[in-house]
Amino acid sequence: MSIETIFDTMDYGTAPEDRGPALQWIKNHGGIAGPYINGKWGPFRDDLTVCNPATGEKLSGMTQTSAKEVAEAVKCARAAQPSWEALGGPARAKVLYAIARIMQKHARLLAVMESLDNGKPIRESRDIDIPLAIRHFYHHAGHAQLMKTALPDRKALGVCGQIIPWNFPLLMLAWKIAPALAMGNTVVLKPAEYTPMTAILFADICSQAEVPPGVVNIITGDGSTGESLVESDVDKIAFTGSTAVGRKIQDSVATNGKSLTLELGGKSPYIVFDDADIDSAIEGLVDAIWFNQGQVCCAGSRLLVHEAIAEDFHSRLKVRMDKLRIGDPLDKSIDVGAIVDPIQLLQIKKLVAANDAGETYHANITVPDGCYYPPTLITGLQPSDTLMQEEIFGPVLVSTTFRTPSEAIEVANNTRYGLAATLWTENINLALEIAPKLVAGVVWVNATNLFDAAAGFGGLRESGFGREGGWEGLQAYTKTTNPSVPAKAVAAFKGTSAGSDPVDRTAKLYIGGKQARPDGGYSQAIYAPKGQFLGHVPIANRKDVRNAVQAQTLCAWGKSSGHLRAQILYYVAENLSARRESFAKRIDEMCGGKAGLEEVKDAIDILFCYAAWADKFEGRAKSVPIRGIALAMREPVGRIAALCPDATPLLGLVAPMAAALATGNTITLCASQPFPLSGTDFYHILETSDVPAGAVNILTGQQSELAAHIGAHMDLDSVWCLSTQEVASSVKEKASSNVKRIWQGAALDDHNSWLDAGTEIKTIWVPYGE
Ligand code: NAI
Repeated sequence: MSIETIFDTMDYGTAPEDRGPALQWIKNHGGIAGPYINGKWGPFRDDLTVCNPATGEKLSGMTQTSAKEVAEAVKCARAAQPSWEALGGPARAKVLYAIARIMQKHARLLAVMESLDNGKPIRESRDIDIPLAIRHFYHHAGHAQLMKTALPDRKALGVCGQIIPWNFPLLMLAWKIAPALAMGNTVVLKPAEYTPMTAILFADICSQAEVPPGVVNIITGDGSTGESLVESDVDKIAFTGSTAVGRKIQDSVATNGKSLTLELGGKSPYIVFDDADIDSAIEGLVDAIWFNQGQVCCAGSRLLVHEAIAEDFHSRLKVRMDKLRIGDPLDKSIDVGAIVDPIQLLQIKKLVAANDAGETYHANITVPDGCYYPPTLITGLQPSDTLMQEEIFGPVLVSTTFRTPSEAIEVANNTRYGLAATLWTENINLALEIAPKLVAGVVWVNATNLFDAAAGFGGLRESGFGREGGWEGLQAYTKTTNPSVPAKAVAAFKGTSAGSDPVDRTAKLYIGGKQARPDGGYSQAIYAPKGQFLGHVPIANRKDVRNAVQAQTLCAWGKSSGHLRAQILYYVAENLSARRESFAKRIDEMCGGKAGLEEVKDAIDILFCYAAWADKFEGRAKSVPIRGIALAMREPVGRIAALCPDATPLLGLVAPMAAALATGNTITLCASQPFPLSGTDFYHILETSDVPAGAVNILTGQQSELAAHIGAHMDLDSVWCLSTQEVASSVKEKASSNVKRIWQGAALDDHNSWLDAGTEIKTIWVPYGE
């Protein structure tokens, strides 16, 4: 090409990155991606093939790690864990710094390997994936250093099993391994079967950094190796990948007590208001949906554009799409690389072909043969269309319009996911009003796909639970040093007579601010220790659970200010205080003994305590390396159900209620099964304390029956299983229906854990400057 033609066309030439060193590294390594266990390599077997998606050529063979080999890796990790933790934070920090430094030294090799293996443009792996992965190790070296003083009440979980996807192989590895090691855990990590290469390179870096044997173990293989890891003797599973597999994993850890964090799919809205800077919003969209060929869990894959500017926006967007360059991922001037695998390409093609709604526009560019898919825009869809709801996981943007901000919010939240959201407007007041209303773990204002190790990332709803990054991410890799004593089942006292009082004294359920008869029309008698009849309580069933959750949905408690929540909790405390004798008497009658007054006093104290917290459990402004700020906002988890402990019938009900209300949640409380009368008495306090209808609902009956309905309910966001392990297990068995958060409580004086359980961090990114 002559200089004259270049000036004529102003086209880019090719700028290929050298693949030689990466291919040589694979060759030197025996041409196999195999396990790294206890500081040693192997066994290396050519069981599976790893391909370069851009060419279809074999890059490497791969060992399918067997269940026995997985168990061996976990055993080594277990053996290494106590001394790794005992090494102390500052010594672990040194190892993490060493890893970061060596990664930095090999940054180019890592970037080329990532692009060869995954098909992503070298520009992205070089400028985004690898620097961010390195930043994670630096940042978490700091957390290791500070652990003793900053987190005095936390300690390592133990051995963490980690399963990662193929879209950001090294970055996901860093997100998982860096916090785990910093907090004193050891890890067994399984990279995705399409993309094991940078994990293998990372294992090599670990041996150069003198990470002690057994602290980092990498096992290669497909989903069956992942399954073996889930079933193995690890303390925790951290998973990133599809919602379907996330659900399976939630089911399989339901009864074995492992900790779990899930970072799953998304269908994230990208909202453009009519006053937005359109050119910037279009550039943002290029990053939102064509970054990594759209194979991004938080891709801005659903465009919602204000009706008034939609036509102009779409036509400018098409012009920009026609300028995108698609081709060899190792060419430095390429925008869109290869799709990770022919199976994934087929999936994208199938989903697009099955759609006959709206208008489909493929970028008018030459698409190379092979594993490539053109940038695509589908306009004129309705929120209910399949492609507006289903994750495509490819370079396909779907679009609809809205007329008002409230409609934008409604359409944006019309999804079962809740991972990320982007909004563009020049009106800061509008942006900061909308951001908290979007159901998403991350919101970007006038920017998109910003990430940093100091800022938490993670989802809501079926996008999973748990945060990665920042202080909040450390929660998932630590446990309290002050665990609560597991609640024990207490048998109800028996009696023979149902009482001779002709006036019916059956208590009611408390639903939606009203006393309600149970749907099933059944009740049970409650007796004192010596068999005297004390009263009847209703036996709630599935429909009562449904009515209670419906009442929670209608209640706007989450929108109330911390100040108001505090006022109402103080009022509840005062009203309980005024009736302390009768509550104490009731407890003594039901349970026997004389501990009633002390329990009432504790319940009043806890109400005052959470009233005090209601306007003080704050978020943070994160120090992120951009010209901007990342706000970590604490938001209520939403609709909670609590299965209250059998013992301490008043305190066991008031404590979860107070913590949930203080943090802005609504709650349905299933009162102590053997001693429910404190619960049914308590609604008289609620009725006189200005607690809005639906904020607190009280059910009585058989917890084991209610647990299954609560676990399966699609509109409950979290369940606090504070009674027996058996009841917790039956909730957990059903919880994957909508990927619910399950929490099993903390010591009553561990307020931070209760407040954490009531909140979720939303990270709102707001860049500065023109
Ligand atoms: P996947 O969820 O099947 O795989 C992710 C990881 O889980 C891989 O390491 C895989 O080997 C492992 N795995 C698979 N089955 C397992 C099981 N039963 N137990 C334990 N581990 C298991 O994702 P896949 O098949 O690679 O992609 C399918 C779809 O998932 C994509 O089209 C996309 O929609 C979605 N996906 C979402 C990601 C995200 O970050 N949210 C990442 C990757 C895929």
